[in-house]
Amino acid sequence: MFGITGDLARHKLLPAIYDLANRGLLSPSFSLVGVGRRSWSADDLRNYVETAVRDGARTPWRPAIWEQLAAGMRFVEFDSFEDDAAYEQLTRVVDDLDATRGTRGNRAFYLSIPPGWFPAVTERIARSGLVEESADAWRRVVIEKPFGHDRASARELDALVGRIVRPDDVFRVDHYLGKETVQNILALRFANTMFEPLWNQRYVDHVQITMAEDIGIGTRAGYYDTIGSARDVIQNHLLQLLALTAMEEPTSMDAASVRLEKEKVLNCVRLERDGVLDLNLTTARGRYNAGFQGGLPVRGYLEEDGVAADSRTETFAAVRLEIANRRWAGVPFYLRTGKRLTRRVTEVAVVFKQPPFLPFESAAATAVGANTIVLRIQPDEGITLRLASKVPGTQMELRDVSMEFGYGATFNEESPEAYERLILDALLGDAPLFPHQREVDLSWRILDPVIEHWTAAGSPEGYRPGSWGPASAHELLARDGRTWRRS
Ligand code: BG6
Repeated sequence: MFGITGDLARHKLLPAIYDLANRGLLSPSFSLVGVGRRSWSADDLRNYVETAVRDGARTPWRPAIWEQLAAGMRFVEFDSFEDDAAYEQLTRVVDDLDATRGTRGNRAFYLSIPPGWFPAVTERIARSGLVEESADAWRRVVIEKPFGHDRASARELDALVGRIVRPDDVFRVDHYLGKETVQNILALRFANTMFEPLWNQRYVDHVQITMAEDIGIGTRAGYYDTIGSARDVIQNHLLQLLALTAMEEPTSMDAASVRLEKEKVLNCVRLERDGVLDLNLTTARGRYNAGFQGGLPVRGYLEEDGVAADSRTETFAAVRLEIANRRWAGVPFYLRTGKRLTRRVTEVAVVFKQPPFLPFESAAATAVGANTIVLRIQPDEGITLRLASKVPGTQMELRDVSMEFGYGATFNEESPEAYERLILDALLGDAPLFPHQREVDLSWRILDPVIEHWTAAGSPEGYRPGSWGPASAHELLARDGRTWRRS
């Protein structure tokens, strides 16, 4: 694991590995080699991982499981990722694990490092022979986003990784695909009869995909200030949600079939609004100001530690997309994401058209909105169906009500964390939950013109912490005679 000392490893990857071990899903031979720019002894590594696990694991602490896992942990100190001698040491450590713990040459390289280091690391991994193909052992590379900065750099990155392993052995992590509720989109659509007949332009008015967070950027300025919310979230999580919501039925749930359908639909995504490309009308971006959230004063984005004084990075992004195919022609998909918004919520809302005729007195009928299916991705995982109902009483008064399915109330077992599923699948070589390079490429095709447009347009518009984003985001929907759901 390159980047074992980083935030992601500490908060997500290491706890997930322990949880997998605790659920009996890791081979007893499983061994973890941490690579990092620290002078750590074996005990330092052990203490660090133990703290991460105790703070972040989902399953109970079991000393026997921990001892088994800790016995297979090694640390290799790198002065820098260009330190040739350290790769030799890494090779020795990995060979020794093969000999002493029965790992049999099977290796996954988890690269949780800034993409700027990819050339140096991949070149040296290749030179060290660590990934040389072998008939009876597997070699895989797991990479974390960002998959490049734009389409051109994503292609360069792919070419680099392609120099060390075959395309099928590259596992690109989009952790949203590891979430149970995201996988359930395909179950809802393709394991039921009642939704799919309505899932098209004849009945659907529009779709809103929201990923809102109430937190700011915290200590991540170094990463975030060069990225912004469109690259951080829309390029990957939100376009994946769009693809799963809008794709055709795959012939099976294997990786090739699911990826093929996602690619097809991503290929149909357009930035034009009714055939006209004007990104001033179809995109919005913002940056949080100083203010109050949850009753406490919070800093504005520009005052956050590590943010450049002349930064133009957005912390809120919204885009209106259309899908040019028979199923979706004329149905806008609105995507939005932001930091320091009203609350943390991720959902896909499919909003249906109003009934063509309502045989009720107008006062009764105007009180009802459109039928909506809300796929609640998090935090309150489940599905809501909004429908009109008669209010009890002597009048035919109507009101919108909700039918609810909640994971918490329905299933006894807690959902595993996304990273548990993804790490396990990478070890098993199971690829359906990892986006293919072609999907990454198509996502950048959609986003590159938007980011270019924003870069030329100056600073993002400020918004109040605890709000639902800048005024331009509301105007974006108002132009179409719609409003964002107040989630
Ligand atoms: C990450 C983004 O991919 O997702 C972060 O880089 C964001 O900026 C995070 O906070 C949110 O993940 P989750 O699983 O909490 O929705």
